Amino acid sequence: MNAMLNRRRMLRNSAVSLAALAMRPDRVVGGINMPEVGSSGTSPPLMPFVDALRIPSVITPTLRGKTQFYTLTMRAGLAKLHRDLPTTVIWGFDGLYPGPTIKATKGQPVVVRHISRLPDTHKQGRSDMEMMYPSVHLHGGHVMPQDDGHPREAIGPGAFRDYHYPNNQRGATLFYHDHSHGQTGLHVYHGLAGSYLINDPEEQSLGLPQGDYDVPLLIQDRVFNADGSFHYQLDANTREAGFLGDTILVNGVVQPYYKVARRKYRFRIVNASNARMYELQLSSGAPLIQIATDGGLLPKPMAKAVLELSPAERADVVIDFAAYPLGTQIILRNCANCVGSLTGVMRFDVEVPNTEDTTLPDCLSSWEDLPVTAQTVTREFLLNRVTTASGAVWTINNHTYAMNNPPLATVKNGAVETWRFLNQTGHRHPMHIHLVQFQVMDINGVAQDPSVHGWKDTFVAPPNGQITVAARFSGYTGKYLFHCHNLEHEDLGMMADFEIVS
Ligand code: C2O
Ligand code: CU
Ligand code: CU
Repeated sequence: MNAMLNRRRMLRNSAVSLAALAMRPDRVVGGINMPEVGSSGTSPPLMPFVDALRIPSVITPTLRGKTQFYTLTMRAGLAKLHRDLPTTVIWGFDGLYPGPTIKATKGQPVVVRHISRLPDTHKQGRSDMEMMYPSVHLHGGHVMPQDDGHPREAIGPGAFRDYHYPNNQRGATLFYHDHSHGQTGLHVYHGLAGSYLINDPEEQSLGLPQGDYDVPLLIQDRVFNADGSFHYQLDANTREAGFLGDTILVNGVVQPYYKVARRKYRFRIVNASNARMYELQLSSGAPLIQIATDGGLLPKPMAKAVLELSPAERADVVIDFAAYPLGTQIILRNCANCVGSLTGVMRFDVEVPNTEDTTLPDCLSSWEDLPVTAQTVTREFLLNRVTTASGAVWTINNHTYAMNNPPLATVKNGAVETWRFLNQTGHRHPMHIHLVQFQVMDINGVAQDPSVHGWKDTFVAPPNGQITVAARFSGYTGKYLFHCHNLEHEDLGMMADFEIVS
């Protein structure tokens, strides 16, 4: 009953805000509603499905008491990304693209020592040189502010930083990536991202596919030069739409194939692209069975004919290959761009006879709506773009990010708040809040059942629309970031601090 009332109240609030929104002119010239149509350059043509999928290596920690200790070095490396493409110089964790997978266990602390040995070449021509050093963020992690990879705590050349991750949170598919000041797009594009999986031993009893049948898939798009190097450039178009590749890679392989057995698999899909949103679907017409979102398991499995995934969103899906005869090939398609090399993400080749299979349970996890009431603090954040002498920049409440900006919100430790993102542009903005997992309450004035979206840390504010999310801001005090996860928008200012106070 109460929940109903709240929904209705929220619906009314949203309607008011929508009306206010409609009166504001959209400043985006020729507003593009589908920023991911097209690409920011042209790669040499590459034949799809000729290289096998690679599974990033899982690194082994050393044990220091109860703590699992890892060391990773950010450095340049060489990677063969397609049969017909010359070797690519990448920047990677341990020189690998993507970075190795870290497998953590709920409740068991991890320390990652990140050492920086990145080349200095990208620093030429900037006066704020020390600001472009890397920092590493565990996306989706519930961590202390000093461990959150804030760009103000960057790692100088040859230096290192120890990041402490308590893993006191739900089991989930997270990822780690560079978060350098104004250059996150450049750094991530060159390879600085990897998977970080938190395994909850209590999930063992669910009988979900495990081991070799639990596979991380990091999806990214790139533009290649003929010599195999990555092409990345900020110009008027990429400042606006973000950098869009014309070639899709999974785990650092251009449109790979993957030989599968006739059984169920769990795929942990991470959209680690700078700016591209995907609409994933299977060429067989079978739905993708989504079992988890950014913050872990959904209450129950959900069949999705099309799975939308914006930058930084994660989806764990189960695909059952038992229904297909040996020899079947199933393409994981991307339908936001049903042209050319952006059509196919990867291909599953059903080639291994039945192995022992699992049954998918009807219930995956319990769910509780956050206690949102009339007293709940609601904040509004306007997302916009302004033109400056140096080109377009992006704003939150009219502020372009600067390291010393005052926080845009001061939140009491433990408080549940609702945050409304009002998108006054024709672009999609995948909004991400650090530290928390949130529930989606409202999209464009339509009240949502948050449990169908699951726990999220990134969600799209639609073009000329709005979203309202609720979160409990608790655990630590200090400054954290929230921002658009279109990495070019983020680098160009669509980011702000919020502060949690006791
Ligand atoms: Cu995945 Cu602040 O980012
Ligand atoms: Cu994050
Ligand atoms: Cu954006």
